[in-house]
Amino acid sequence: MCGIVGFVGHREAAEFLLSGLSKLEYRGYDSAGIAVFSDRIRTIKTKGRLADLRAKVEAEGGISGCLGIGHTRWATHGAPNDINSHPHSSMSGRITVVHNGIIENYLELRAELEAAGIRFTSDTDTEVVSQLFDFYYDDCGKDMVETLKKVLVRLRGSYALGILSTDYPDRLLAVRKDSPLIIGLGEGENYIASDIPAVLESTSDYYLLNDNEIAVLTAESITILDAQTYAPVTRDIYHVTWDISAAEKGGYDYFMMKEIHEQPEALRNCVGSRLTEEGIRLDDITFSEEQMKNLNRIHIIACGSAWHAGIVGKYVIEELARVPVEVDLASEFRYRNPILSPNDLCILISQSGETADTMAALREAKRQGIHTLAVVNAVGSSLARESDDVLYTMAGPEIAVATTKGYMTQLGVLYLIGLYFGAARGTLKPETAAKLSKDLYALPDQVRTLIEQDEVYQAIAAEHAAKEHAFVIGRGVDYAASMEGSLKMKEISYIHSEAYAAGELKHGTISLIEPGTLVIAVATQDTLYEKLLSNAKEVKARGAYVLAIVKEGCTSIEAVADKVIYIPTTDDLLAAALTVVPMQLIAYYIAIERGCDVDKPRNLAKSVTVE
Ligand code: F6R
Repeated sequence: MCGIVGFVGHREAAEFLLSGLSKLEYRGYDSAGIAVFSDRIRTIKTKGRLADLRAKVEAEGGISGCLGIGHTRWATHGAPNDINSHPHSSMSGRITVVHNGIIENYLELRAELEAAGIRFTSDTDTEVVSQLFDFYYDDCGKDMVETLKKVLVRLRGSYALGILSTDYPDRLLAVRKDSPLIIGLGEGENYIASDIPAVLESTSDYYLLNDNEIAVLTAESITILDAQTYAPVTRDIYHVTWDISAAEKGGYDYFMMKEIHEQPEALRNCVGSRLTEEGIRLDDITFSEEQMKNLNRIHIIACGSAWHAGIVGKYVIEELARVPVEVDLASEFRYRNPILSPNDLCILISQSGETADTMAALREAKRQGIHTLAVVNAVGSSLARESDDVLYTMAGPEIAVATTKGYMTQLGVLYLIGLYFGAARGTLKPETAAKLSKDLYALPDQVRTLIEQDEVYQAIAAEHAAKEHAFVIGRGVDYAASMEGSLKMKEISYIHSEAYAAGELKHGTISLIEPGTLVIAVATQDTLYEKLLSNAKEVKARGAYVLAIVKEGCTSIEAVADKVIYIPTTDDLLAAALTVVPMQLIAYYIAIERGCDVDKPRNLAKSVTVE
């Protein structure tokens, strides 16, 4: 998704903007641009990577000035080309804008403005914002805030906006609705950005904006105006506790590898403080014991890997808390007129907390008056702020497009929820809870031992990197984990991979198995191990290469499998947190063998803020 930065201060803005944008590359983009106020507002933008933009800025002799905005664009309206890149200026050139989000009524606004004689140069929805702003500007006495108020009344959709006017060489306006934007506080300078890493080199302090609040930034001041009354409001300052090195690669070739290695610590942060002698402590939850006891049904709603975590959650929560759990893809949930009842609970899972479909599902749940609980990583994100309760996954910043520690910590929270609800509902025996808590506490170290077997995964990857198809099979929790392992393979190494419930294979898909087809057989569930062994034999008999992932001690699989990876012993319900690790690393090394850009897989964006 698009990334925004803005700067006002007393030093060269361009350097800050280019460096800030580089910290937002993880969001995915296809073009980039900056606009800086010198004697006028000068804009330089280009299709391609930030290196292309930097080269263009240098070729034009640099761009000097202490006020500016920058943007990385992930095309939604109009092709990724120079003209559609942001920033976008009005026809007169007085107003220049960067935007993240989608203006849903842009065609209608554009037609209206064109009828008034305004000429558009791009295909974007964003250009209507700069043109509309300019259109109202004189009537509002060239007052930027008054003009923006008028513009906001006309906009439908989502937006984070940074706005410059040629009349104000000292100020930057910002506003957001349903798209992320933070306001960074510097000394003698201030910033806006789509995410914290963009400003972290300059400040650890920031404000969050609520929907439609307007922020006016100068070098010395930040004024935030209420969304309804436009009276100035005071805001708490958020302080980032991780420094810039946490948002950078820390010596690894790719963020994904760094984040895979951060999983033990992330999981420890996530579960450590919540597993206490007295049981599970989920201090931030307002959902009462009474409500837990009277629960009718839980709906888990998410997208992609977060949805996969939700499927693991279904097995765990149903087993421990004996309450039915439905798992929905957010993009389906919102349009299927879901049947919710007052004693239901909706759990929404998201790393970014900004995924458009998950946000829409949250709003649907709230519209129906259902209690909502967000499982989210990004502190202060839209999902976190709009849900009734939040459990942070505490993974730290996740930069690689393909999630690893985000997914891992989502599992961590779901395990905690299972234990917590099970205890409250009286469905979990204290001795079972104690044993599971002990196993959960041991998980981070077990994850570490698996990560350390690096050469094993490299060798497997080297052997299978040329393959075009793979299958990942499992039953129960193993099937849920297979989905995540399979997605990792698809998205970063571009191998066509499918996850299958192992018992379902022979109902059609087994016809795709050919000599040499890679089949990863995940078989950690004690009661299902024998069944999985039979399924592995079925594919082996058709020539598949079987890579088995089993618990320590399950050596009988060696008679069937070509290669076996053993995971440390844990409770069946917790096994997904372990089996996923070899699959992440095999996918990673296959991607490297195939020369793929691991951190920025083609066609993907980190934060999916459009439907
Ligand atoms: C895959 C991946 C995506 C996300 C999905 C939801 O590796 O990262 O499938 O899980 O886009 O994103 P969040 O969790 O930010 O809502």
